[in-house]
Amino acid sequence: MNAPVVESPKLVAALPYLIEQDWAGYTPEQHAIWSELVTRRMPQLEEHACAAYLEGFEQIGLQVDRLPELAKVSARLQPRTGWSSTAVSGFLPADAFFEMLAARKFTTTTWIRSRDAMEYTPEPDIFHDVFGHVPMHAHPVFADFLEHYGKVCAGLKSAEALERMGRLFWFTVEFGVIREAGKIKVYGSGLISSHGECTRVVEGGAGLAQGLEIREFDLEKVLDTVVDVSKMQPVLYAIESFEQIYEAAKETESRLG
Ligand SMILES: [Fe+2]
Repeated sequence: MNAPVVESPKLVAALPYLIEQDWAGYTPEQHAIWSELVTRRMPQLEEHACAAYLEGFEQIGLQVDRLPELAKVSARLQPRTGWSSTAVSGFLPADAFFEMLAARKFTTTTWIRSRDAMEYTPEPDIFHDVFGHVPMHAHPVFADFLEHYGKVCAGLKSAEALERMGRLFWFTVEFGVIREAGKIKVYGSGLISSHGECTRVVEGGAGLAQGLEIREFDLEKVLDTVVDVSKMQPVLYAIESFEQIYEAAKETESRLG
């Protein structure tokens, strides 16, 4: 396990995309939307989110009644794992995104969806990014995994290798599930932040009734599984521990680098 990063590397490619979060500029309505989104998700997550997510939620100090201040979230994260939640202006090009992951900085959008898009937004907002992703960054092994993932991707040149690494991200960071005491629990942000996607996983046994198959995590199979982002996922991969994906990220270095 790496010690928390004290001096973070300088950003180059990501620099033009960094912004300041204007927390004082959020309206009462925007805080109310955050509050409603969190309140809706928590009952299901208390039962079906993995322990690391629920602990991380407390550790980074998320509040139900107000939008998170990224500087405060980062101040709680950094002593634990060296990660920060860093405000960006929107989608980053791949090199800038990987550069930030490799520096333990998570690209975080600051806008929040409107009330007519409570269930789904095509682009991530602060609810997806902070509520969905950031609690996991308080877990030391997940934190190491994500940094390593960024470093491996930053060093890749071929589009095919990057596409295969994109699948690893998809089936872990976005749609990851873990077996805890024999039960499937969610840790991927797409499952954490979406009631519909999460319900498919946790209802009907392993989700088979919902047209979903949960397989054991296998790096080679994950790298080979083509993702259709326009559809609900037909297959997810369950890990046994976060060490498993950290090892997988290290393994990709020798396979794809
Ligand atoms: Fe995401």
